[in-house]
Amino acid sequence: MKIKKAVLPVAGMGTRFMPATKVVPKELLPIVDKPVIQYLVEEAVLSGIEEIIFVISKNKELIRHHFSHYPELESVLKARNKEHIAEKIRPIHEMAHFHYIYQDEPLGDGHAILQAESLVGDEPFLVLFGDDIVKHDIPASKQLIDQFKGESVIAVERVPKESISAYGVIHPGENQGRLYEVHGLVEKPAQEEAPSDLGVIGKYVCPPTIFEAIREGAASKDGELRLIDGFIKLAEKEGVWAYHIEGERFDTGQAKGLIEANRAFHDDL
Ligand code: UTP
Repeated sequence: MKIKKAVLPVAGMGTRFMPATKVVPKELLPIVDKPVIQYLVEEAVLSGIEEIIFVISKNKELIRHHFSHYPELESVLKARNKEHIAEKIRPIHEMAHFHYIYQDEPLGDGHAILQAESLVGDEPFLVLFGDDIVKHDIPASKQLIDQFKGESVIAVERVPKESISAYGVIHPGENQGRLYEVHGLVEKPAQEEAPSDLGVIGKYVCPPTIFEAIREGAASKDGELRLIDGFIKLAEKEGVWAYHIEGERFDTGQAKGLIEANRAFHDDL
């Protein structure tokens, strides 16, 4: 089944990157000359997505502005013989069909995704978190979508032991190449309790059954509803798969990851 819709929950507070993200959403921080969120939208579109559903908050309106048509700016640039620069901003609102819905309070990524339920409807969809960038010729979302056979596919990467307790970690079953059956998931395990070195990154193909599973999932200690708790619930009822993504992954939600992403993408120029 073709996956046409992507949900991008981008209503989080970005606390790990403050004070840079006090006013500017972390999703708008640049990798070379484009904001992180534009890489994610381009990744989705290159993977066949036609509709992008942003879950934003009132503090994240700048994201909406970035994907809006801005004819006045184009005219000024053209009048000043900067057509080549106008070309860089012109097509952005044509990349996909954009929807914006609001999460009034940051009650977790799972809660943000629930706000998109009526727009998604009864079909599978892609979820991209606003800070995980993967650099590879085949877009990471396409890699995931290519594995989708009706049950969830979660993107994972191999994580060094000393960092594993910062991740959701899968308990893998059988594998066919890079595709693993998921027998369970553990959120942020202690190093010695991690069921594998396969850590979840913020890219998922979800069947619509995930909405009910998020609602049924246990809220975390801080009271937030998380997508990973939804997958823990879902894995008790139906198949869940994990795909070891090809490519170099950057966590741009913190300074180190954003700096490394800038180096890697700049070296490509
Ligand atoms: P993160 O935990 O990576 O983002 O959430 P955050 O909460 O903004 O960042 P820190 O941890 O405080 O630094 C994963 C994704 O879910 C979104 C975030 O915007 C990010 O894209 N999110 C998170 C929401 O949309 N709503 C929330 O309540 C929480």
